[in-house]
Amino acid sequence: MEIAEKRRQHIPLDYILGFSNFYGLNVKVDKNVLIPKMETELLVESVLKHIDAIKSVKCAKVLDLCTGSGCIAAAIASNCNEVDLILSDTDGLALNVARQNMTNLIGDKCNWSIVESDMFDNLKGLSFDIIVSNPPYVSDSELNELSVEVKAQPLIALSGGIDGLKFYRNIAENAKYFLQKNGSIFLEIGYTQGQAVSQILEEQGFCNCVIKKDFSNLDRVVSATVR
Ligand SMILES: C[S@@+](CC[C@H](N)C(=O)[O-])C[C@H]1O[C@@H](n2cnc3c(N)ncnc32)[C@H](O)[C@@H]1O
Repeated sequence: MEIAEKRRQHIPLDYILGFSNFYGLNVKVDKNVLIPKMETELLVESVLKHIDAIKSVKCAKVLDLCTGSGCIAAAIASNCNEVDLILSDTDGLALNVARQNMTNLIGDKCNWSIVESDMFDNLKGLSFDIIVSNPPYVSDSELNELSVEVKAQPLIALSGGIDGLKFYRNIAENAKYFLQKNGSIFLEIGYTQGQAVSQILEEQGFCNCVIKKDFSNLDRVVSATVR
């Protein structure tokens, strides 16, 4: 099928091209992964700044939870030498794409590995300085309102349950058992979710909650520290 015909059918351009530009990298994408968003670059930037602040002390151990195409992990690894990365997702097809991206874009530049896991289920025994995640965060009522191009992306990458907060609750309840002392989490959020996600984290004992705004001045990233 011609490119123009595929576009007429609202197949997203990045799926047609087979790649997406993210943080200066050409990240492979296919219909099994979310197309990386510009807003997610803010999440990467926040993590890189934090790694810079702690790297004189140690090589940062980072978990990219809900990794999808692996774009976040690849962007972190390509901008930082002192990092050990684990990429995790529940979807084996997405992880195939993440593995190809890490192999092609990062290779042996740093230590990285991939774990198929429903959230933290298969990560037991591991511990990290940083957990970064862009989990699915679209609420059930918002799913219908998405553009055709977004609806062409995997539902599993979008749906965050009735109120869109299901994965933040899981992360807030479990992440503390996988973080080292003073470890930090960095979460992308929907622009209406800043206060709710901060509250969910504080209820589970996280402190120093900070909400960062994206280029459109909308709440986009929440970070917090485990006590
Ligand atoms: C919003 S996408 C983020 C993908 C990528 N990190 C990015 O920023 O473009 C969310 C990802 O969460 C994954 N996911 C959904 N449910 C999950 C679960 N129960 N455990 C782990 N990953 C899950 C999806 O497969 C999808 O790849």
